[in-house]
Amino acid sequence: MTFVPAKWPRKLRSQTWFGGTTKDNIYHRSWMKNQGLPADLFDGRPVIGICNTWSQMTPCNAHLRDLAERVAHGIYEAGGLPLEFPVFSTGESALRPTAMMFRNLAAMDVEEAIRGNPMDGVVLLAGCDKTTPACLMGAASVDLPAIVVSGGPMLNGWFRGERVGSGTALWQMSEAVKAGTMSKEDFLEAEAAMSRSPGSCNTMGTASTMASMAEALGMALSGNAAIPAVDSRRRVMAHLTGRRIVQMVKDDLKPSNILTKQAFENAIRTNGAIGGSTNAVIHLLAIAGRVGVDLTLDDWDRCGRDVPTIVNLMPSGKYLMEEFFYAGGLPVVIKALGDAGKLHRDAITVSGSGIWDEVKDVRNWNEDVIRPISDALTDHGGIAVLRGNLAPGGAVLKPSAASEHLMVHRGRAVVFEDIDDYKARINDEALEIDETCVMVMKNCGPRGYPGMAEVGNMGLPPKVLRKGITDMVRISDARMSGTAYGTVVLHTSPEAARGGPLAVVQTGDMIELDVPNRRIHLDIPEAELLARLAAWRTATERPSGGWAQLYHDHVEGADTGADMDFLKGCRGNAVGRDSH
Ligand code: FES
Repeated sequence: MTFVPAKWPRKLRSQTWFGGTTKDNIYHRSWMKNQGLPADLFDGRPVIGICNTWSQMTPCNAHLRDLAERVAHGIYEAGGLPLEFPVFSTGESALRPTAMMFRNLAAMDVEEAIRGNPMDGVVLLAGCDKTTPACLMGAASVDLPAIVVSGGPMLNGWFRGERVGSGTALWQMSEAVKAGTMSKEDFLEAEAAMSRSPGSCNTMGTASTMASMAEALGMALSGNAAIPAVDSRRRVMAHLTGRRIVQMVKDDLKPSNILTKQAFENAIRTNGAIGGSTNAVIHLLAIAGRVGVDLTLDDWDRCGRDVPTIVNLMPSGKYLMEEFFYAGGLPVVIKALGDAGKLHRDAITVSGSGIWDEVKDVRNWNEDVIRPISDALTDHGGIAVLRGNLAPGGAVLKPSAASEHLMVHRGRAVVFEDIDDYKARINDEALEIDETCVMVMKNCGPRGYPGMAEVGNMGLPPKVLRKGITDMVRISDARMSGTAYGTVVLHTSPEAARGGPLAVVQTGDMIELDVPNRRIHLDIPEAELLARLAAWRTATERPSGGWAQLYHDHVEGADTGADMDFLKGCRGNAVGRDSH
């Protein structure tokens, strides 16, 4: 693919507001000037929006005001006019019931704010899990030149000489307390060691994964994903991004030029190589839906199946994002994919040239952190897409975070009707369960929870943990935090709340998991399954009013990205009528 830049100079979109001497032009300029902006800033130069997901309620993004200033420096320097604007910030750690329930709302906010305002291009400032896909989805639906700059990960956590990985350590310590191998006091002391600087989770969780996806898709400058939030080079990245977007506007380099099927295939393979989050499956499907790229769950299995995981980061491995950066970061991984023939080298990026040009000369500075392909963490990274009578629409499992001895397993189902049922009974010593059982949880999908909670990695029962067992097969229609691990079947589709077969599994049924053959099977006679499905009635209540009702009525299944049916596609950037 070759990108041919547009001719420059030409009249830009923002001049519809600012260029001319009509009453409306004067109105638009005059009010802007109350910010102390000189007249010549409205002379036809590119106006760049800085779309900021900053919020103190989203601690991972709380430093983005500083980065926005750096972006603005770069925009001014390159001859543009920067104008920062806020959008809904979806913080993973605090927002209830789930940040995911608001990803599509945030994407709608991003989309309408870009389209309705006088801008010619946009810098997307994102950090925590959902803010990156929300920004990409919204920008893709407008298709003005757009570029991502990530907030960057937190520094390594350390507790008593050990690395503390965001999220991963929380799950491990919580299980250790239940198993009686860690005291509550130590757990509380470790809390202060988990988050020791601004930034997003320092593991290869969903935030780091989505920052990597933005870079692998070509929507961020090369090297953007891994720079720690507090490293001065993060500010440099923001500054350079500001410079770059001005040229992208002059060249008219848009998301539709970058977000091609090849770009998505590059991102899927990159996800396998980094041992990335299962959440990326949903987000990339949703982003593809905005640009009209035909991406399916099967593309995830096809492209990711033979990709080895080479990034040795928690939760699949040992290190954290700081070490990933010092080893050379994502460009080293993309180069390794290119060397192995697993990269579309000429996929266009925000640079205007092919992704291979960005990475071909980089070097790996630590082969324990970014392993050579010949010494991979696991030969089959990627995401396994499972199908069968239990998941006719598909389900996913992350092999690099699962246990080898459970990849082929048959066990008795222990069913929890929803997360509340699970919480009420999991610690009951009378619960009939052992490590050979398959834990099943229903009603945690996009419509069932609502928002598809990250509870798929259900903690094990204490009586199993006390035996030293740390993993069991678990199946649900929920998601799992990118920082979590285990032999966990997720995103089972159709979800229970829509009457998928998961809804009718009963305690005592036998379930078969066969990851090598991509099979998930409920071992009951077909007639019995059909009879149960015919008798099924939803237990999910329709919310009354507000976003929750709109979400319930219009959210699609996880197998197609859990976007709203009315938000799919690109609605363009045509300038609306002036009402003044
Ligand atoms: Fe924000 Fe993990 S909670 S990145």
